[in-house]
Amino acid sequence: MTKTAKLSLNDQNIDLPVIVGSEGEVGIDISKLRGQTGAITLDPSFANSGACESAITYINGEKGILRYRGYDIADLAEHASFPEVCHLLIYGRLPTRPEREDFRGRLTRHSLVHEDMKKFFEGFPPTTHPMVVLSSMIASLSAFYPGDDTAEEIDLNIIRLLSKAKTLASYSYKKSIGQPFMYPQNDRTYLENFLMMMFGVPAEKYEVNQVVRHALNKLLILHADHEQNCSTTAVRVVGSGGANLFASISAGVSALWGPLHGGANQAVIEMLEMIQADGANYQKYVDLTKSKDSDFKLMGFGHRVYKNFDPRARILKEASDNVLASLGVDDPLLEIAQRLEEVALADSYFVERKLYPNIDFYSGIIYRAMGIPTDMFTVMFALGRLPGWIAHWLEQRNAPGTRINRPRQIYTGETARPWVKLDNR
Ligand code: CMC
Repeated sequence: MTKTAKLSLNDQNIDLPVIVGSEGEVGIDISKLRGQTGAITLDPSFANSGACESAITYINGEKGILRYRGYDIADLAEHASFPEVCHLLIYGRLPTRPEREDFRGRLTRHSLVHEDMKKFFEGFPPTTHPMVVLSSMIASLSAFYPGDDTAEEIDLNIIRLLSKAKTLASYSYKKSIGQPFMYPQNDRTYLENFLMMMFGVPAEKYEVNQVVRHALNKLLILHADHEQNCSTTAVRVVGSGGANLFASISAGVSALWGPLHGGANQAVIEMLEMIQADGANYQKYVDLTKSKDSDFKLMGFGHRVYKNFDPRARILKEASDNVLASLGVDDPLLEIAQRLEEVALADSYFVERKLYPNIDFYSGIIYRAMGIPTDMFTVMFALGRLPGWIAHWLEQRNAPGTRINRPRQIYTGETARPWVKLDNR
């Protein structure tokens, strides 16, 4: 591989360094371009721009590969626990047995939320979407745990955030249905505590359904990181200005909420319900996506990076069949999703544009079977993505030479004009 790329602009010829990643990915380093030529690059929506070098997650969209720290997503989803994956993403390695015990213990000990924070929940109207609550509450944690000067303080805040986010998520659900908040219990594991705080009444007698626990573990692992996506980029951009962990992650939660990103899981179920109510006329909705007069999209289809298949969606499609069968749930939306997928994948519009089901297409069906309400789906995505956001925030903070993120633009507005008073017009 050549070490430089050549750029010719007006009468100037310059050499740009070529960076090659550990999987052979090639990037042209343009960091000196403006200084050398006065020009910038223009790449709206960043489809061709790398924002950083990162050692956390590798994706090959053509081959459908996703690996966290070198481990294949299918292996992790099959064999690992979500706390192990949190450890892997944040600290760069799978925990040894003593590390695992220590990590689990710390995640348990820090799961209580300051009592004063419970008052914040009272101010939200009952109809509030739980993503608003989660994002506000995560930002509010910085009022209670402000210190982030030393590595030890940061590490403690990371544990607090991982641990308290599930408590805050369950509180946001309880708030939405007007039920009292449940306290976490130290003899329960991370996932069991979350499920108990969501569904355990009374708490002591609550027995976790193991099918549900396994499904939740898989779902959280599959969502745990996805390199420089919209919300992770938001976390990095906010963090690059020096904002603390909680403020940066709260920005990630807000970015995730949009229907083109994490909010797609809620939008998929709403779309499937609409198709069901309309007599399950799949072709009508596939045709609607192709119509020039409509901006309708098949939610849960398409991806900026995956152009053959989304490996997470494959795992979830299989899991959705198994989970529903094991729980004895007969959800007509599963059949509608499967038929819609068949019809879409046979359609030339989807084939030509390489549009396949993504992770959000089947995740909502599983959440529904687990008893999680639709407007909590994106909160579930956020809980899963938390270790990824944290890992990226930390990687950037520790990277030598990190500078504030500050893109340029090509200005297209008015050129200079004299000031005039408009009073008499
Ligand atoms: N249904 C119908 N047409 C689509 C869809 C869809 N879901 N997605 C993309 N297209 C078309 C799009 O209209 C465009 O067509 P044309 O070339 O004729 O203008 C072409 O496919 C390329 O799409 P794009 O919008 O340029 O692709 P993008 O990389 O900018 O957007 C996406 C990626 C995921 C935002 C988009 O596919 C989409 O909106 N999908 C539906 C929402 C969704 O499921 N989002 C969850 C993504 S996975 C979870 C996550 O990581 O966030």
